[in-house]
Amino acid sequence: MKNIIVEFEKKRNSGIPISVVTCYDFSFARILEKSQIDVLLVGDSLGMVVQGHSSTLPVSLEDMIYHARAVRRGAPSKLLVVDMPFLSYQISIEEGIKNAGKLMQETACDAVKVEGSSGLVLELTKRLKEMGVPVIGHLGLTPQSFQTLGGYRIQGRTEESQYELQNSAKKLEDSGAVSIVLEMIPESLGKTVSESLRIPTIGIGAGRHTGGQVLVLQDLLGMDESFHPKFLKKYANLGSIARTAFDTYHKEILERQFPKEEHSF
Ligand code: KIV
Repeated sequence: MKNIIVEFEKKRNSGIPISVVTCYDFSFARILEKSQIDVLLVGDSLGMVVQGHSSTLPVSLEDMIYHARAVRRGAPSKLLVVDMPFLSYQISIEEGIKNAGKLMQETACDAVKVEGSSGLVLELTKRLKEMGVPVIGHLGLTPQSFQTLGGYRIQGRTEESQYELQNSAKKLEDSGAVSIVLEMIPESLGKTVSESLRIPTIGIGAGRHTGGQVLVLQDLLGMDESFHPKFLKKYANLGSIARTAFDTYHKEILERQFPKEEHSF
């Protein structure tokens, strides 16, 4: 069984980047189990990608547990990180501890991820570490705060916000975070922050110099043909492949080409 702290330390010390992909269900988890990907993240992005909401805010702790359990069943040997959803850790340290513990207990994940660097998040990170729960931080564009960040846009553009983000990263590391996700920040800031920490950073839209990269599974497979953010590289065009398959299936039903004798009992 792999240990996330040991694996991350090894990667950081050897300079080998960490590959992370989000995953929300058993069928993709089974494919990923046989892949070389290092870490699966059950992100609360499932609120948008799987549930069709316009933000991550409606996602509940029960939703996260439901999806993480399915992913764990499909990928028993992978390092698994689960997002703590909105309101599951912002109310009090006690609730945060209880909910993080529940996630660990019920999903067999290896770490939980929280957003931001408020006093509560820093204290929670410290307390969870003391309890044996590894915590991954998330800075830059933190989607649970999109309203106060002015929407889904690049963060850390001003000198002041860059300084603030560097400070936040240091504080998270000092509180015991095992890694920090950096989302949608200038490449130079991603580099400065990554070089200033002992723990690895994982970037999404944070340039080439982070300790690893994460992408949303459906994005990297090109399932949404209308989604083209600058940071995204599509490694397949599954959206159009799937649509062609559905239309061919439909056509063959109409033309009585499917099923054939070989598909019949
Ligand atoms: O929710 C999520 O999928 C994430 C990643 C994009 C980092 O937090």
